[in-house]
Amino acid sequence: MLNNKKIAILGVGKGVPEKVLTNSDLEKMVDTSDEWITSRTGIKERRICPDHICCSDLAVEAAEQAMQRSGSAPEDIDMVIVATVTPDYPLPGVAGIVQDRLGLIRAAAFDLKAACSGWVYSAACAFGFIRSGLYKRILVIGVDVLSRIANWHDRSTCVLFGDGCGAAVIGEHEGEYGIIDFDLGADGSGSRYLYIPEGGSRTPLTREGLEAGRNKIFMAGQEVFKFAVKIQSETLSKLFRRNNVAPEEVDLFVPHQANIRIIDSSAKRVGIPMDRVFVNLHKYGNTSGASVPLALCEAWEQGRIKKGDLVAVCGFGAGLTWASGIMKWAY
Ligand SMILES: CC(C)(COP(=O)(O)OP(=O)(O)OC[C@H]1O[C@@H](n2cnc3c(N)ncnc32)[C@H](O)[C@@H]1OP(=O)(O)O)[C@@H](O)C(=O)NCCC(=O)NCCS
Repeated sequence: MLNNKKIAILGVGKGVPEKVLTNSDLEKMVDTSDEWITSRTGIKERRICPDHICCSDLAVEAAEQAMQRSGSAPEDIDMVIVATVTPDYPLPGVAGIVQDRLGLIRAAAFDLKAACSGWVYSAACAFGFIRSGLYKRILVIGVDVLSRIANWHDRSTCVLFGDGCGAAVIGEHEGEYGIIDFDLGADGSGSRYLYIPEGGSRTPLTREGLEAGRNKIFMAGQEVFKFAVKIQSETLSKLFRRNNVAPEEVDLFVPHQANIRIIDSSAKRVGIPMDRVFVNLHKYGNTSGASVPLALCEAWEQGRIKKGDLVAVCGFGAGLTWASGIMKWAY
């Protein structure tokens, strides 16, 4: 039976490693400069996991905070969805490991792989599961340890990425506010603009591939840039039209934190002024699945989001995929 109650984000949390890698640190690793990275991307520093910290460690930290802030006990959680491209192991997914470590004894668990759109895709899944009446409360985590799959010899990509996690508990809500709508999409014809060439079933990893770094991220930067600006404005405009929302009604836009020029251009195209756009990419770089929930969590912690605010989120990335959502913040 359909659940007609409001469905809302009930609490948010984050987990980031302590180690900071600055642009000047990178100058010592590859042929780059703080000036180039800052002017082309807006990134000043990023966080990097030490060897003993991995995906589930960041996920557990963020999830514990989101559960505590939402007043959720382990037995309240019906499902955990982890959006990641860097799970602890190639098999199994990391969601089961997180479920076990948090003692979520009743929860179903699975990973969702939609790269930088992954958390918004996962939030839409959670919304659908709850709306369907099947579940009431779902933990939605976005986490990535991109430092493990970045090519640290390729200056055109390694300067962009960082590690981190953001989490939210999404559930039934008795109040008047909540999630309004999502728009999800994909264009697989662009799958090779951003991918890891070797290590999958098409091309298992070879010794030559390993030596050439084909087990690390490859990106056609300019193609992804053009796609990002276009798709972010298209998906948001579609969502706004469908829900009779004017861009000037948006209190805060929380976009995927990939590049300040992408954020700037798409906000302009949609008609949202930059003082209503949340940016933390200067501190973290692009953290893929973690990007949107980490930004959402910090926006809330900094008081940039308050009860009743109209909040828009948007992710885009490998796949190619995109996902946007709008909600009235519930608490
Ligand atoms: C990657 C990106 C920042 C590159 O910026 P750009 O303005 O397109 O730069 P280009 O790739 O044209 O490179 C310009 C020059 O800078 C050089 N360059 C590339 N990376 C560099 C670096 N880290 N430091 C210094 N120079 C660099 C290039 O070699 C090139 O030199 P050339 O003109 O002598 O050939 C940009 O394309 C981008 O942000 N793309 C989208 C990335 C993204 O968001 N990915 C994730 C999606 S989820």
